[in-house]
Amino acid sequence: MLKPVRVGLLGLGTVGGGVANVLARNAEEIQRRAGRGITLVQAADRATEFPGVTIAGVKITADAFEVVNNPDIDIVVELFGGYEPARQLVLQAIANGKHVVTANKALIAKHGNEIFAAARAQGVVVAFEAAVAGGIPVIKAIREGLAANRINWLAGIINGTGNFILTEMRDKGRDFADVLREAQALGYAEADPTFDVEGIDAAHKLTILASIAFGIPLQFDKVYTEGISSITREDVAYAEQLGYRIKHLGVSRRTERGIEMRVHPTLIPERRLIANVDGVMNAVLVNGDAVGSTLYYGAGAGREPTASAVIADLVDVTRALTSDPGNRVPHLAFQADAMANIPILPMTEVETAYYLRMLAQDRPGVLADVTRILGDQQISIEAIIQKEPQPEATAVQVIMLTHRVHERQMNEAIRGIEALDGISGKVTRIRMETLR
Ligand code: HSE
Repeated sequence: MLKPVRVGLLGLGTVGGGVANVLARNAEEIQRRAGRGITLVQAADRATEFPGVTIAGVKITADAFEVVNNPDIDIVVELFGGYEPARQLVLQAIANGKHVVTANKALIAKHGNEIFAAARAQGVVVAFEAAVAGGIPVIKAIREGLAANRINWLAGIINGTGNFILTEMRDKGRDFADVLREAQALGYAEADPTFDVEGIDAAHKLTILASIAFGIPLQFDKVYTEGISSITREDVAYAEQLGYRIKHLGVSRRTERGIEMRVHPTLIPERRLIANVDGVMNAVLVNGDAVGSTLYYGAGAGREPTASAVIADLVDVTRALTSDPGNRVPHLAFQADAMANIPILPMTEVETAYYLRMLAQDRPGVLADVTRILGDQQISIEAIIQKEPQPEATAVQVIMLTHRVHERQMNEAIRGIEALDGISGKVTRIRMETLR
């Protein structure tokens, strides 16, 4: 029997504690799969006490560089999160010839091209299953399970905190801030929770998914990103009356003119399975030309679900230790010299259907003006609802669903509608996807 593989952990917090516990609890099962033991030998963390974490025999240090420079360590697991010092530590580990497992989506989305190039030069693996959708093995599914396909599109609920907030607002009428506090206490939220709420975390994950689905370099800066903080309870209720749910989706689609990469609140027909993914759960729909649509569902955040993905990577890396680097699964699914240079579509060129809500003066001709502006932009209306005016009110809420149109035309139309005397304030616009 081969000697156990020695692992060094950067970060012994929520996920790190989970990795330590699951490695200890399932040691025998993991060894039966990996062909040798996987042993945690050192961990870097500023804390000195780790209640509820199995760390007997693990050396604790406050100096993360001690771990990446430790000659006794074969695989470094990076769980610090954030761009720096994670980038420096990972590059140093690679330079030292160590394999790396990371749950750090920000790091991979922003610096992955540089990190994978360094890893290739050193012949080491950088594995990142836990970076997207927590415990769901969606990286492996796309990179290996769907390798026969030309991927057409993917769409995912890939931020647990945001989904938890939208679900609680809809089901319990709870306050935004109150739900966010709970997500933080449960260890789901990012260190800076605006990353969850404003869609940055989802954009990191979408960058990674699009890269491995289409064989394009990681291009985080090109993702259109819109958060959920402007979604009101009214919109959630109106969407429901029309047969839709509002979800914060990451969408990436191959079109003839380029690839879409966008994160924004989205109306989805309520009968779609993904529309019923609630709470902290994540789900990713992937559509390939041969397989059709496939759906991956599970816990997108949390201690042991994320540890599950980290340890699966540890098992993969352990098996790869003795393999020829040229015959391993490429980091980004496609061979590094076969990445495609396909343009990313600007948001103005993206085509979707829309939900519009506006406050209209209750007098003749206002709706005629609105529909004329939409018609001028070739926007066809699918449904229109005018809410009963409140007693004494002079304005009414009007909700419209449109057919698909380029965002550029919709921007023009909204500008025109907001300039009408009969319309008060801003027009609320939420994109719609049928996901068929
Ligand atoms: N903050 C992230 C989420 C954690 O809520 O989904 C998992 O990446």
